[in-house]
Amino acid sequence: MERELALEFARVTEAAALAAACWVGKGDKEAADGAAVTAMRAMFDSVSVDGTVVIGEGEMDEAPMLYIGEKVGIGTPPQVDIAVDPLEGTNIVAKGLTGAIAVLAAAPRGSLLHAPDMYMDKIAVGPECKGRVHLDAPVRENLREVARALDKLVTEVTVVILDRPRHQQLIEEVRRVGARIKLITDGDVSPGVAAAYENSGVDILMGIGGAPEGVITAAALKCLGGDFQARLFPEEEEEINRCHEMGISQVDRLFTIDELATSDDVIFVATGITDSFLLKGVRYYKRRAVTQTLVMRSTSGTIRHIEANHDLDRKPLFRDHRIKLLIE
Ligand code: FBP
Repeated sequence: MERELALEFARVTEAAALAAACWVGKGDKEAADGAAVTAMRAMFDSVSVDGTVVIGEGEMDEAPMLYIGEKVGIGTPPQVDIAVDPLEGTNIVAKGLTGAIAVLAAAPRGSLLHAPDMYMDKIAVGPECKGRVHLDAPVRENLREVARALDKLVTEVTVVILDRPRHQQLIEEVRRVGARIKLITDGDVSPGVAAAYENSGVDILMGIGGAPEGVITAAALKCLGGDFQARLFPEEEEEINRCHEMGISQVDRLFTIDELATSDDVIFVATGITDSFLLKGVRYYKRRAVTQTLVMRSTSGTIRHIEANHDLDRKPLFRDHRIKLLIE
């Protein structure tokens, strides 16, 4: 994939973030998600790529846009798989909390796992901890290894976990070992990626979250040299059948980062909607909005943070949207 593509993708996540940001704290997660999807879809129409959505808003009959299998881009080479989450953290935006991003990952056709929309057990770490942790190892062992790899005491290691009843045992085990925990309400992509950032305040992400989000996190960590391991966590027979339909015959197998994103040519782009471990959220002043976007390519290893200052009056998509919000 050409490097220019990464910057084109940045415009796509910026558009989604700007659209979703209007809905911060308004208690309407569907509207926020819808706005992000519409904006992302519209912006894709100008991107020089022959893209197929492999992780998106759902199946064709349940998602009018960015559905799995939908073609995006202007249809010129390269042929790429696209994984999108126009609004990662719908509840976060609805409640005005921290951690929402607009995100996408791209890789050559056939190289991103077509993950079914179900839960996945995950572990994510940065480059220093690569090869030192294992999804099936005891919590104590993993945290001691992380501490050693990062030259910290285990009491200084920070684990991010989704605040869910299903993680009660995991939380107790981490506390027994003495590591620090940051419980999050939603949005495990941002802390998973942040684990590879030295000063993010996150050392490891553990626990069960969405499988699509897992593939997106793996793509990001591939760019950052981090590690990610996962196992699908189907909850009912129907989900097991769904895995089989999608070509995953051994449902309880462990996926390595290189199996989730098989190519070494991966692009990851995310724009902050609300402040997160990774990025600042959209900020408004006068008639402008400032966005922060993280753009990474695994081939070059370049990590860019782009701060863009948008004139909202010159963006018809957002100008009309703001007027509509004011009228309603
Ligand atoms: P949204 O789909 O509402 O944006 O939620 C995203 C998310 O919080 C992910 O980050 C996480 O992997 C998953 O949902 C957790 O699912 P659940 O809320 O069912 O525990």
